[in-house]
Amino acid sequence: MALPRVAIVGATGYTGAELLRILLQHPGVEVTALAAREKLAPRVSAVLPSFTGLCDLPIEAFDADALAAKADVAFCALPHGASVACVSALHARGMKVLDLSADFRLRSVDLYQQWYGAAHAAPELLAQAVYGLPELHREKIRGATLVAVPGCYPTASTLPLLPLLAAGLVRPEGIIIHALSGVSGGGRTPAAAYHFPETSEGARLYKVAGTHRHTPEIEQVLGDVLPAAPTVTFTPTLAPMTRGILSTQYATPTRELRAVDLVEAARAYYAGSPSVAVLDAGVLPDTLWVRGSNRAMLGYAVDARANRVVAMGVIDNLVKGASGQAVQCMNLALGLDEGAGLRGSAVFP
Ligand SMILES: NC(=O)c1ccc[n+]([C@@H]2O[C@H](COP(=O)([O-])OP(=O)(O)OC[C@H]3O[C@@H](n4cnc5c(N)ncnc54)[C@H](OP(=O)(O)O)[C@@H]3O)[C@@H](O)[C@H]2O)c1
Repeated sequence: MALPRVAIVGATGYTGAELLRILLQHPGVEVTALAAREKLAPRVSAVLPSFTGLCDLPIEAFDADALAAKADVAFCALPHGASVACVSALHARGMKVLDLSADFRLRSVDLYQQWYGAAHAAPELLAQAVYGLPELHREKIRGATLVAVPGCYPTASTLPLLPLLAAGLVRPEGIIIHALSGVSGGGRTPAAAYHFPETSEGARLYKVAGTHRHTPEIEQVLGDVLPAAPTVTFTPTLAPMTRGILSTQYATPTRELRAVDLVEAARAYYAGSPSVAVLDAGVLPDTLWVRGSNRAMLGYAVDARANRVVAMGVIDNLVKGASGQAVQCMNLALGLDEGAGLRGSAVFP
C-alpha cells in the first residue's frame, strides 16, 4: 500500500530541517516535496548539507497546486502572518495541514488581533483548526484536517500544570511561569540579538510583564481544563544553549501536598501519553535529558515554607516544542501510532 505523501513548506528553516530529519526516519510516510521562499536549490543538501546522501529532493518555490499534486499532507513551518495564506491554499486543495506558526493557535479572532496586531486573514478556517497538544486534545486531533501545532514555551509551561489544575490541586489565580529558551527558538534568520558573542555567555530576559505572545496561548491551554482561562505572569529568558526549554511554574496549593502527590497526579493524567515522562519526586529535569527527542520531562516539588507548588518541564524546542509535536499530531490525524517515528531518546550529552 502506498504511504501517505508529505510536503514541508519552509523546509530551509530550523523547524523545517527538523521535520525533514524526523520524517526521513518515519516508517509510515514518504517525504515527496520541499518548498521555501528564497533558498531554492536543485537538491536540499545545497542548503542543508546534513542531508547529503539521505535526501535528493529539490527545494522549490511555494506553489499550492504543485504541492497538492505531490503530497497528501503539508507541514507549514513559516513565520506567523506568512503562514495563513499557504495554509489556506493547501487546505482548500484537500490536504491535511499541520501549521507550526502561531496563525491558528488562538481560537479568538479578537485575541489574535490584540496580540499579533492585524485582523485574522482566515477566520472561517480558524474555526476549523484544532490546537495540537496531543496530551490534551488527542481525540480532536484524530479527526482534524488543520492542526495548529503549539508553541514551544506553551508546551513546556502547560504540560506540568495541566494535571494539577485538572485535579484541583493548585489554585488557578496567581500562577507565575519563568522559562528559559535555547537560541534556536528565534529561527534561522540572522539578527544581532542571536549573534554568538551576544548569546553565548549571558542570559537575557525579554518581553516580561505580560508582553510575550505566548502568554495568551498559555492561558488558553490552561483554560481548557478550568471554567475560565486564568491570568498568568510569564517571564521568558534567552539562555546560552542551542536547543531546549526549561520552564518553572509556581502555584498555590489548595491543600497540604507532598511532591509525591503531584507526581502521582501527573502520572495518572499522562498514562498512555508516549511523549511525557514524569520524574520521581526529588529528581529535577534537565534540558540535556530531552535534547533531540520528542519527550517532555516533568518534575515537581513543594515549598512548604512558602506554601508554593513548584512544577517544572523540559523539552527540546525544535522537537516536542515544534517539529516532533507536529509529527505526533500528523500520526494521530492519519490514524497512525502516535509515537511512530518519534521514539528516539535524547542526544546526551
Ligand atoms: N524555532 C523554534 O524553536 C520554534 C518552535 C515552535 C514554533 N516555531 C514556529 O515555527 C515557524 C518556523 O520557525 P523556524 O524557527 O523554523 O523559522 P526559520 O528558521 O526562520 O525558517 C523560516 C522558514 O520560512 C521561510 N520563510 C521565511 N519568511 C517567509 C515568508 N515571508 N513567506 C514564505 N516563507 C517564508 C524560510 O524560507 P527561506 O529560507 O527560503 O527564506 C524558511 O524556510 C515560526 O512560525 C515559528 O514561530 C518555531
